[in-house]
Amino acid sequence: MKHFSSIGAAVAGTGFIGPVHVEALKRIGVHITGVLGRTPEASESAAQRLGLPRGYHSYEAMLADPEVDAVHLALPNTLHYEFSRKALLAGKHVMCEKPLALSALRAHELVELAREARLHGGVCYNIRFYPLNLDARERLKSMGRIFSVTGRYVQDWLLYDTDYNWRVLVKEGGPLRAVADIGTHWMDLIVSVTGLEVESVFADLHTVHKVRHRPVGEVKTFAGPSEVEREAILVETDDTGCILFRFKGGAQGMLFVSQVTAGRKNMLQYEISTAQGALAWNSEHPNELWLGHRDKPSEVLLRDPALMNDLARSYSSYPGGHNEGFPDAFKGCFTAFYRAIASGDPTGQELYPTFAQGAHEIVLCDAILESQQRERWVTV
Ligand SMILES: NC(=O)c1ccc[n+]([C@@H]2O[C@H](COP(=O)([O-])OP(=O)(O)OC[C@H]3O[C@@H](n4cnc5c(N)ncnc54)[C@H](O)[C@@H]3O)[C@@H](O)[C@H]2O)c1
Repeated sequence: MKHFSSIGAAVAGTGFIGPVHVEALKRIGVHITGVLGRTPEASESAAQRLGLPRGYHSYEAMLADPEVDAVHLALPNTLHYEFSRKALLAGKHVMCEKPLALSALRAHELVELAREARLHGGVCYNIRFYPLNLDARERLKSMGRIFSVTGRYVQDWLLYDTDYNWRVLVKEGGPLRAVADIGTHWMDLIVSVTGLEVESVFADLHTVHKVRHRPVGEVKTFAGPSEVEREAILVETDDTGCILFRFKGGAQGMLFVSQVTAGRKNMLQYEISTAQGALAWNSEHPNELWLGHRDKPSEVLLRDPALMNDLARSYSSYPGGHNEGFPDAFKGCFTAFYRAIASGDPTGQELYPTFAQGAHEIVLCDAILESQQRERWVTV
């Protein structure tokens, strides 16, 4: 297997999540060739800030760099399809932020393109890689039939009608927002942890703020709310949503998503009930896995490589009591991705979230949107 340092990766996007990719790549020892921002100046200043050798002046220059084997796309959603397609055509592996594309058709086109080129295509559903989620995945294999999966993914950063981000606009983020932005993380996690397949969905989505007041032009850092000039915009994307799932084999599911729940900064939670017990995990306490029993006291497993199964242990870097969290989940996700690249061509058995799985999330979103519009169950 090739050493990670012999694989070159470049990162496009220097906003919130691009630097998270850079940090994780540094930690696992992949050779980072450079970074791309919106302008040549933004690229150069990000390269300097992040301690990287190059700020690319264009995406074409990034793809033309022979040192680049893989690109990471940490860009607004509208760019994912085109940037992924160009990268695959240039012979680069791709780790794309979610969603893979804005339509299932385009996402499937990328799945085919990657397959034909025998390139690895990953979508960054990083939450799978909290070690206790990997532990739960293995543990469930011997817990018998799954009865139900319930949970939520809730945040508060769009609570006020003065909160604004490109994600609220259909043309920038796509027609679903809370569901697509955070609900897909929950759905990917549940499908990967349980191995269940969604058969049908029923959705009830809601836009709490049908009008938001977005800042006009550049907002000065630390400007007070009264100093910011604003314009009213109509919002059609979902602030909250309740989704019911029927899984193949008869299990039931229920998800609540929200970006307007005060005090919940970024909480993903699930509880899975099976014939032989239950388990639950919460991203606010990611080093604890609750194990529910009927005939003896329930337990809490504190993340500890010595107490976890082999899969979870191989994605956990610190001893018990030394907490692992959000940045470590990216480290795990990229470790799986580069282990697969270093091992050779894609096999279809990858542990990282693949393009095919990313495309499936878009199919689920389409079914959820259709259910909302038609007010009925929709078969996936
Ligand atoms: N996996 C996760 O946990 C997670 C978390 C947050 C965001 N995301 C995803 O990451 C993506 C980016 O989100 P973000 O929050 O970092 O957004 P952001 O707005 O903070 O950053 C986007 C970056 O893209 C750059 N950009 C825009 N157009 C560009 C272009 N044409 N060429 C080069 N750079 C360009 C912007 O300058 C900015 O640096 C989204 O798709 C989002 O869904 C994933």
